[in-house]
Amino acid sequence: MEQKSFYIKTFGCQMNERDSEIMAQSLGTFGYIEGMEIQDADLVILNTCSIRAKAEQKVMSMLGYLRKTKQKNPAMKICVAGCVAQQEGVKIIEKMPHVDLVVGTQNIYNLGEFLENRDEFKGKVITDLQDNYKIPKFLPDMVVDTTNIENSDSPYPKPFRKFLTIMQGCNNYCSYCVVPYTRGREVSRLVSDIVDEVHVLVAAGIKEITLLGQNVNSYGQTNEVFPGRPNYGFADLLKKVAAVEGLQRLRFTTSNPKDLTENLIECFGSIPNLCPQFHLPVQAGSDAVLKRMNRKYTIKTYLEQIRQLRKQCPEIALTTDVIIGFPGETDDDFQQTMALLEEVQFHGSFSFKYSDRPGTRASDFTDKIDETIKSERLARFQNRQDEISLERNKEYIGTIKKIMLETCGEDSAKGRTDTNHIVHIHQNVAAKPGDIISVKINFAGQHSLKGELI
Ligand code: SAH
Ligand code: SF4
Ligand code: F3S
Repeated sequence: MEQKSFYIKTFGCQMNERDSEIMAQSLGTFGYIEGMEIQDADLVILNTCSIRAKAEQKVMSMLGYLRKTKQKNPAMKICVAGCVAQQEGVKIIEKMPHVDLVVGTQNIYNLGEFLENRDEFKGKVITDLQDNYKIPKFLPDMVVDTTNIENSDSPYPKPFRKFLTIMQGCNNYCSYCVVPYTRGREVSRLVSDIVDEVHVLVAAGIKEITLLGQNVNSYGQTNEVFPGRPNYGFADLLKKVAAVEGLQRLRFTTSNPKDLTENLIECFGSIPNLCPQFHLPVQAGSDAVLKRMNRKYTIKTYLEQIRQLRKQCPEIALTTDVIIGFPGETDDDFQQTMALLEEVQFHGSFSFKYSDRPGTRASDFTDKIDETIKSERLARFQNRQDEISLERNKEYIGTIKKIMLETCGEDSAKGRTDTNHIVHIHQNVAAKPGDIISVKINFAGQHSLKGELI
């Protein structure tokens, strides 16, 4: 059989990155090999994101580019997977007839098997979303080479750290968000499947695992994950995973504050290999806006959670997500978001201008905010966050930190602290990626630190 090559371009969140690995592994089982150049690939997969209009535009412009590539290489097959595929389905092929296949978010596991019948997939759309979906047990094949899974600011590919999806979908229907539509109903994987996967990863030399879900705090709430243990929750899972011998660092993302339990907060004081870092998206500083976002918590309860987290783990680095210019956001609402920033002093944040998404409730809200006002508010927010990040990062100067190395060159190296800060070292560290070394921090910038060997 003639060997075929594939190339995967990944957009969006860590879940898509893990899904890309799963597709790569599935293709590998059916004889496909991963190629280095997109233009030479027999099969190009775009694993797409539709969280904001801009994310979707990126996919569309990539597909425009691929139309020309395909003219030069007519044997090339193009597959659109991920959240845009799920949401747009057949419309993608109607708009872009050079696309051969559209695969939804629950249909990636047997991609290789499906493609084995290669001549028949032209124009095919597989986007079934089941309400009672069960995430297949799919153990990672550590031999699969994922060097082409591209995403410039992603921690992939790192042979010593991996993402592990523990749940799929979301039932929260925040009024601005497409995820419940693109990923379907919330379903949690079995504890035993997750723990088996952790064992495989650790045995293969993985030192750091990040557990993934749209709202990991509600793990185990919509289906049974541990037969006979009906109240098994995320904190229980964390303890179980953390106990796997050889796992040095454990992280998770992401969390809706409405489901953050005391049990989970306590984990930051009691699990030694749980990294002191928490991404807790707040979205807005005004209760009125949070209510219209359907977030189901208030700023008062959020601040109390922050206080408890810092009590359990004083060194915890907190980050958040904020949406600027949600429909109806007044100057006063925005001031409250700025006030929250001052109050919490987040180590960092991701902030986005509100973007209308088709099918969401907020897209029907009438009081949309003018683009220039959104841009102006976003700039004010980001400038202040940058200042705060710098101030917080300066607190590390003079301290000694354990760094897990990611790259090591002749006279430079880069790694991460347990708080997830990037540290650059301008020395020969005489160590390899994945090793943990101690450095003294001697410089702080807005987005990274510098350190020297001790
Ligand atoms: N499950 C996570 C969010 C995942 S989406 C949570 O509940 O917090 C990642 C981030 O994208 C969100 O936190 C939000 O800040 C942003 N986002 C989602 N939909 C958006 C929209 N329509 N416009 C702008 N930003 C959006
Ligand atoms: Fe979207 Fe809300 Fe679900 Fe997060 S919790 S994925 S923001 S609907
Ligand atoms: Fe994007 Fe889908 Fe993730 S919309 S952020 S790729 S869940």
